Amino acid sequence: MPTVRDVREKAGTEPITMLTAYDAPTAGIVDRAGVDVILVGDSVGNTTLGYETTLPVSVDQMASHVNAVSRATEDALVVADMPFLSFGVNEKESLENAGRMLKEEGAEAVKLESGPHTVDLTEKMVQLGIPVMAHLGLTPQHVNQYGGFPRQGTDEESARAIVDLAQAHEDAGAFSLVLEHVPSNVAAQVTEAIDIPTIGIGAGPDCDGQVLVFHDAVGLSEWSPSFSKQFGNVREEMESAVEGYVEAVEGESFPAEEHSYEQSDLDRIY
Ligand code: KIV
Ligand code: NA
Repeated sequence: MPTVRDVREKAGTEPITMLTAYDAPTAGIVDRAGVDVILVGDSVGNTTLGYETTLPVSVDQMASHVNAVSRATEDALVVADMPFLSFGVNEKESLENAGRMLKEEGAEAVKLESGPHTVDLTEKMVQLGIPVMAHLGLTPQHVNQYGGFPRQGTDEESARAIVDLAQAHEDAGAFSLVLEHVPSNVAAQVTEAIDIPTIGIGAGPDCDGQVLVFHDAVGLSEWSPSFSKQFGNVREEMESAVEGYVEAVEGESFPAEEHSYEQSDLDRIY
């Protein structure tokens, strides 16, 4: 059963594997495949709840998905992503929202989209016993600030800022750091600069681990970013299953005899 300590210790020895999951069946698949960390991402907003961005996702929605994933997971470390404005507005609320994911929903750590405003908060959470995964580079909760989802750390100054913030979050006690959509050499530099594991998405091969969104990895998303890779084509499989069902019902080949039964002593009912 990987703990935050195991994840830290795996860094630099073997690549850390992380995937998102949002419900019991997918968490079961990810867990049984031996993935180290399951992130219940606020990407649930895009992948599962039909929103265009992650911003509308609520704490209650996250809690429900974290709970389902935790119940279905035996081995992997379950990390709950904290949704937009559930942290950082005020400390009390931030700690209660994050604490709830451990106390009531079965997560073992939380992830915060990080910045200068999460250094002290990370430290406080860690002091209270809430392990924190930091997240730098592209932080999708800033979509309105960015005006899209652009790569980050593309000039000297912004790359420097990422390295500095990575160090600040390591010092604050974060147990790992997601790096999203940054140049490979910047991710390599961050990985070099800190001791806690870096887990990359669109951040090249030199991180200590990799993460992808489940729906992108299995080929269920209608669209996925160019930095992700489809390792299957689940969408096609689902489409053909559903088409097959419709055809069979309309063509009256389903249900067949083996899907039906008769009451052998029907007479006795009357
Ligand atoms: O919400 C999410 O899925 C994430 C990962 C892409 C890191 O934050
Ligand atoms: Na997220």
